[in-house]
Amino acid sequence: MFNNLSTLPPDPILGLIAQFNNDLRDRKIDLGVGVYRDSKGETPILESVKLAEKRILESERSKAYVGPLGNAEFNRAMAVLALGKHHPQLESLALVQTPGGCGALRVAAELIKRADANACIWVSDPTWGNHVPLLAGAGVTIKTYPYYDFKNHSICFDSMMDALQQVPAGDLVLLHGCCHNPTGADLSPAQWQAITNLSAENGFVPFIDSAYQGFGNGIAADAYGIRLMCEQLPEVVLALSCSKNFGLYRERVGAVGVLGKGKATVSSHIASIVRGIYSMPPSHGATVVSEILTDEALRRAWVSEVDQMRGRIDSMRKKLVEEVNALGAAGRFDHIAQQQGMFSFLGINKGQVARMAEDHGIYMVDTSRISLAGLNESNMQTFCSALMNVI
Ligand code: LMR
Repeated sequence: MFNNLSTLPPDPILGLIAQFNNDLRDRKIDLGVGVYRDSKGETPILESVKLAEKRILESERSKAYVGPLGNAEFNRAMAVLALGKHHPQLESLALVQTPGGCGALRVAAELIKRADANACIWVSDPTWGNHVPLLAGAGVTIKTYPYYDFKNHSICFDSMMDALQQVPAGDLVLLHGCCHNPTGADLSPAQWQAITNLSAENGFVPFIDSAYQGFGNGIAADAYGIRLMCEQLPEVVLALSCSKNFGLYRERVGAVGVLGKGKATVSSHIASIVRGIYSMPPSHGATVVSEILTDEALRRAWVSEVDQMRGRIDSMRKKLVEEVNALGAAGRFDHIAQQQGMFSFLGINKGQVARMAEDHGIYMVDTSRISLAGLNESNMQTFCSALMNVI
C-alpha cells in the first residue's frame, strides 16, 4: 500500500536546518528557523531553566502519568502569565497544557470542529507557514484576510477591517498576540480595540496565537490584545507557546486556552480530544515553566533573561538598518528597525533569496523572511554586504 506514496519536499522552514548543516562554508549564516541565538550564535539553555531543572531533579518523586490536561500548577501559572493575576476572567479561562504551541493550535482546531463543523478559521495573509497545515489538518476550512502591505512594509489595516467585516458570527479570526510571524508588524492598542469592537458587533471569535510573549515590548505589554479581548468579549481561544520565551523548544511546552462556556465542559472535550491524539502532554518542560513562574526569584531572573533576548534582537534590527544604509540602501530596509520580534521580510525576490544561499551561504525562508536572532556583531557585515550584492 505504501507504494502509492511519493517523497514530499522538505518543510519550507524546518528544511532550512538541513540545508544550512550541509553547507561547509565557514562564514555561512542561518536566518531560517525561529530560534533565539546569542551574540556568539548559540542557543543556550536559560539560567532560570537550568536552576529550575536542578530543583526538579532533586525533588521529582514520580514519573507516573500526568493525565490529558497536564500539570494543573502549570495551567494556572500560564493563565496568569497570559491574563495577569488581576484579570476579571482569570477564573473562567479553561487552560490546558499541550505539546508546544503547535499542539495548542491543533487541539483548538479539533475543539472548534467538534463545536461547529461549519466554522471557518480566518488567518492573516501572510501567516506562519505551519498555521494552515496544523489547523486545516483538523478538517476546518481556512480563509484569509489581508494583513501586510508588502510595498510599504506595514499592516494594511483598512483592507484587513474590510475583510473582517465579512466574517460571519461563529467563524474564528486568528490573530498573532505579538511579534507577528512572518512580518514583524504588530497591531497597535487602537487596532486591537477596533477588532474587539467588530467582534462584539458581528460575533466572530478571536483565536489568538501567542508564541513570542516578551519578545515584542515585554511580558505584560505583549499580552495587551489577549487581555483586552478576554475582558471585553464572551468567547476567545488562545494558543500559547513556551518555546521561545523559555527557550524550551525541544521540550514541547504550550497551552490551549478557551474562554466561553463552562470551564468544566470545555476541559472535558479537550481531555477527550487529547486522549484520542497523544493521550497526554510530556511533563518535563511544563514542570520547569511552572517552577519558574511560581517562584518569585526565579521568575525575576527569567524576566531579565527575556529582556536580554529582546534587547539583543532589537539592537540587531537597528544595526542592520544602519549598516545597509551606510552601504547605500537608501532607506529600503528601514521597516526592519520599526518592526519587532524575531522576524521581518527583507522584501527581496525568490531568485535573490536563492543567491543569498548559493553565493553567500546565507539561509532564510524563500519569502525572504529572516530571523533577526541569527545576526550578531561578527556576521552582520558579511550579511549586509551580501544583501547589497544581491540587490
Ligand atoms: C519559525 O517560524 O521559524 C518557528 O516558529 C519554528 C517553526 O516551527 O516553524
